[in-house]
Amino acid sequence: MIIAGNWKMYVGPDPAALAARLVGLEGVDAIVCPPFTGLAACVEAGLTTYAQNVHWAPEGPFTGEISAPMLLDLGVAGSLVGHSERRQHFGETNDGVARRAYAALESGLAVIACVGETQDERDAGDMESVLSLQVGPIRDACGAHERLVLAYEPVWAIGTGRTATPELAQRAHAFVKTLLDRPVLYGGSVKPENAAELLAQPDVDGALVGGASLEIEPFAAICTAAAPA
Ligand code: PGA
Repeated sequence: MIIAGNWKMYVGPDPAALAARLVGLEGVDAIVCPPFTGLAACVEAGLTTYAQNVHWAPEGPFTGEISAPMLLDLGVAGSLVGHSERRQHFGETNDGVARRAYAALESGLAVIACVGETQDERDAGDMESVLSLQVGPIRDACGAHERLVLAYEPVWAIGTGRTATPELAQRAHAFVKTLLDRPVLYGGSVKPENAAELLAQPDVDGALVGGASLEIEPFAAICTAAAPA
């Protein structure tokens, strides 16, 4: 089980206090994805630390971007790519996301590649075709790489308090695995109250947690829910 906390553009909890709270947690890989300014402190606190994005080039004239070798130098273990907020607000494309994932994996980082349909796409019956268009380029670029994990995050469930039902999540995860056979995390309003039943689904291999990862106790509770009994 993997529980990853995406702090987005928030300062997030104190890394040392979070690391202390997670001591003794077994059978769960807890990951934090702080904003760039928090990466070093999280690494120093001993947390498994991922960036929220990574560029495909090792260096170059790409203002505002960061490369995989730079993250590795800092002790960062991986990166998210293709989060829906990057796709929605910053114009990231399926091909660009695949290039980011490939470069990060080649450099030695782990990758959580995010996919998911919008409400309109779901209403139009396009969930499967959208997921195919998103996962296809990642699969073509990276294959079933051992450091690659996918995250299914229906856009209508992110930050809205609307969680996919465990059955909907299970169906989407099973479909994603027919496209690319790697672990799939669920993301979208995961909270301590709904984590256990989502994580109990056979094809839900963990969670990508936004809002509930910004404080220590809810995040620790979700990690505990993921731990084998
Ligand atoms: P949320 O965010 O848990 O606040 O819905 C999830 C995400 O964006 O990764």
